[in-house]
Parts: sequence; C-alpha cells; structure tokens
Amino acid sequence: MSNKTINSEQGHWLLAKMGKRVLRPGGKELTLKLVNELDIGHKDAVVEFAPGMGFTAALLLEKKPQNYTGIELNEEAAGLLQKRIHTKEYKIINTSASATGLRDSSVNKVIGEAMLTMQPDHRKSEIIREAYRVLKPGGFYGIHELGLTPDYIDPEVKKDVQQNLAKVIKVNARPLTKSEWCTLLITEGFKIKIIAENTMDLLKLKRIIADEGIFRTLKICFNILTHPKAKRKILEMRNTFNKYEEHLTAFAIIAEK
Ligand SMILES: C[S@@+](CC[C@H](N)C(=O)[O-])C[C@H]1O[C@@H](n2cnc3c(N)ncnc32)[C@H](O)[C@@H]1O
Repeated sequence: MSNKTINSEQGHWLLAKMGKRVLRPGGKELTLKLVNELDIGHKDAVVEFAPGMGFTAALLLEKKPQNYTGIELNEEAAGLLQKRIHTKEYKIINTSASATGLRDSSVNKVIGEAMLTMQPDHRKSEIIREAYRVLKPGGFYGIHELGLTPDYIDPEVKKDVQQNLAKVIKVNARPLTKSEWCTLLITEGFKIKIIAENTMDLLKLKRIIADEGIFRTLKICFNILTHPKAKRKILEMRNTFNKYEEHLTAFAIIAEK
C-alpha cells in the first residue's frame, strides 16, 4: 500500500475528505483525558506518532512544550501538516513511527492515537519499542486505540470483527482487548499507569457533534449526502460498527518507561 498520497478508499481518509477531523475511536473526550493525564508543560519534549489531520497536534502545541515532533508516515498528510508546523522547535517528519531516527532517551512524552490498531501485531511491537527507545527513563507513552471487549471475547467473534472491520474500512484493523494492549506495552518494558475507556461511537451523530461541533457536523453531513459513493461506504462502515457495538470500545492507556 502506498503511503505517498491520501487514499480515500481507506475509512479514515474518506471521513477526513468529508470534513471529519477527529478520527480516533474514543473521540475528543478520550483524547482530552489522555492529553490532560500526560500533563504536558513548557519543559516537555513531545513526540506524536501519526498526527494525521493534526487535531491532537493543535491541542499539544497549545501547551507550548519545549519541542514537538510529529512522525507521520503518509507523505501528503505530512506535507499538509508541515505547512502549519515548521519551526525549529516544532516539526513534522515524514517517516514511520517504527523507525523515527530520533535519538535514544531524548524525549519525555510520546503520544499516538488510532495508529497501532491498523498495524499487524509485529509492527505494533516495533512501534512500541521505538517509543520506549526514544523516551527518557520515567517518560510516558500515551496511546488511544480501538479495543475489543470483553477481555475473554470468543476468538471466533474476534476474528469475525477484525475481518469485517478490515473489509469496510479498507485497512487491516486489528483491535485488541484491554489485557492484550497492556501486554504489548509491558512486553516492551513499560509499566502501565492509567487506563481509561470510552464507547466507540465514531459515526454516531451525538459523538460527531461532540467531536466536531454543530457547524462542522452540518458540513460533514452535507458532504456525505452530496457524494453518493462516499455515503454508501460510510453507511457500510456505520452498519458494521453498529453490528459489533457490544464488542467494540476505545482505550486510552498511559505507560511509563
Ligand atoms: C486513523 S488515522 C489517525 C490520525 C490521528 N492520530 C487521529 O487520531 O486523528 C491513522 C494515521 O496513522 C498514520 N500512520 C499509519 N501507520 C503509521 C506509521 N507506521 N508511522 C507513522 N504514521 C502512521 C496514517 O498515515 C494516518 O495519518
């Protein structure tokens, strides 16, 4: 799959094309919780994996950290962000979060949202390992990802959810249970500090209004209604999310090096 241009076949880019900016499963509410708990201040060197459309980047930069580096794999998305974020202290690098090129133990906060879920398990571990490598001891890594529930979910149901999600969002989505997310972090050396959860309501009207505000929601609805092909795909996504509602959730986890 090319990571040069924004491929609007993929669910998140299709939603972005329709005007959606908040593209993570637990919405703005869970993002705010994560950012608040990370307690970013003037002395922090912050790295964000996969800033995407830059929604969380804007929240992070409001805190005026000493440094901010966004690591975005998609060349076009990185280019758009580079137009907005390009000072000596605040920058975007177009590369993979699994090999950032940043120095060992050079930052104290890493955050990444809705980007591990779409990686195969070995790549999830590589990215977590990279977060661990660039963090100073005592530094924090915050993630916000798609979850499966309950923890003892039937493996057949899990397979079914993963296959159907991958089919509709055109990304190999592999959400995990709470224990599985924690195990991945612990295996790479992290200690779990905080776990928060929110419902996975990405395409529910109430959540869209909460995330995007009323005017942007109207604009998104207008865009969807006037693009029949996109509308069909988004309805398909929504039907799949609804079908598996009882098994889908969103986790934010903060882990310490
Ligand atoms: C679903 S979007 C989420 C974007 C943003 N974090 C948010 O929550 O709104 C996934 C993003 O992850 C980026 N991405 C995927 N794999 C990546 C990797 N290995 N390194 C850096 N970025 C990656 C994609 O290009 C895309 O911008």
